[in-house]
Amino acid sequence: MPLLIRNGEIVTVGSRIRADIYAENEIITRIGKDLEVPPNTEVIDATGKPVFPGFIDPHVHIYLPFMATFAKDTHESGSIAALIGGTTTYIEMCCPNRNDDALEGYQLWKSKADCKSACDYAFHMSVTKFVKETEAQLRQIVADGTASFKIFLAYKNFFGVDDGEMYQTLELAKRLGAIVTAHCENAELVARLQQKLLAEGKTGPEWHEPSRPESVEAEGTGRFATFLENTGATGYVVHLSCEKALHVALAAKSRGVKIHVESVLPHFLLDKTFAERPGVEGMKHVMSPPLRAKHNQAGLWNALAAGSIDTVGTDHCPFDTEQKLLGKDSFVNIPNGIPGIEDRVNLLYTQGVKRGRLDLNRFVDAASTRAAKLFGLFPRKGTIAVGSDADLVVYDTDYRGTISAKSQHVNNDYNGFEGMEIEGRPSVVTVRGNVQVRDGKFIGEGGRGRMLKREPSFF
Ligand code: URP
Ligand code: ZN
Ligand code: ZN
Repeated sequence: MPLLIRNGEIVTVGSRIRADIYAENEIITRIGKDLEVPPNTEVIDATGKPVFPGFIDPHVHIYLPFMATFAKDTHESGSIAALIGGTTTYIEMCCPNRNDDALEGYQLWKSKADCKSACDYAFHMSVTKFVKETEAQLRQIVADGTASFKIFLAYKNFFGVDDGEMYQTLELAKRLGAIVTAHCENAELVARLQQKLLAEGKTGPEWHEPSRPESVEAEGTGRFATFLENTGATGYVVHLSCEKALHVALAAKSRGVKIHVESVLPHFLLDKTFAERPGVEGMKHVMSPPLRAKHNQAGLWNALAAGSIDTVGTDHCPFDTEQKLLGKDSFVNIPNGIPGIEDRVNLLYTQGVKRGRLDLNRFVDAASTRAAKLFGLFPRKGTIAVGSDADLVVYDTDYRGTISAKSQHVNNDYNGFEGMEIEGRPSVVTVRGNVQVRDGKFIGEGGRGRMLKREPSFF
């Protein structure tokens, strides 16, 4: 059925205009005032409301075997949670570990999403070792539409690559036109500091941050930047958490290194005192890089407003209370991750736009458009234009609510942002012209999400 979103304020990176949006066959075909439409059209009145392009989360974990357990969401639960929160596309980290075959891993990750996700999705392919088959396999994966890679400088002996493997990955990525995303922490230092702290009897979650201090992240970020500089590859630092690492990334950018930066929701809103809470409450706030000292947050917000932090993702990675308790005797065994797929847009709108830290256009850019541009999805995704997919979020700015595990759709028994107020939420969310969400309820079609094939980009 054709769709008309009538009389909303259409917000894109470059403009705010009041107009109607008409979509048929999944695509926006007309934008204008007082559009005439066929009688069978589904009409949504957006008078007085902003209409945003569907939001894109560039960093999520749905299927993830990690730290002796599995992240809790499936593509059914994760995509519904995403859509209720206004995210119409996510990019999942495909993460086989060093002992797995990369191509088999890629097929496995694809099979977990196929016909299950209610929103569209893509993958970043993790390169967790570089062996003789790797080049041929990555060529096949890029040809299949996955034109971005992921490397971990952390997680020694599991996901982590050494400098030689990082060099080979970047050099190949440059030739293939793939952007390389990177988790930047020095694995050796983390391992040594963990051992030192444990030997001193420091076993609680409050020691997670001291085991991976800001300098360890800054070193990883700087090393990644140096390798980008010397290979000519294009890179994207994931979940950058602190000012020290930001300065290193921006210094590299200012000397011409092709480096982009993502920070994730927890680092803007939560600080290390959350992980210092006693017992399992602290464990719920353990992720890597860790939550940092509060003063970092102002630096992240300022860089985000200026556009030098490109995107806001979530690093969505749900482990429930029982799983977090795997680390009750040692912080090194606490499964790392804080979920946020459902709350990213509303919290960014509330804490960013409503608190005057971000203007509305930059909000759209950081939470949708920039990721679409960096990862080969633009202009199909990330904007509202004739020819783009009709992924639209009609936003209710009058809504007031409180984040709570009791009302969430993410498959977890707590919420790291519990109790935070939100001042707005999606009223209608469409994916390729189909209404999937109305006022906090999923009313759409499960399993209609598609894997988005992306062309290489020679930046
Ligand atoms: O703590 C985190 N970030 N968990 C997920 C894995 C990763 O490093 O992205
Ligand atoms: Zn990571
Ligand atoms: Zn991650």
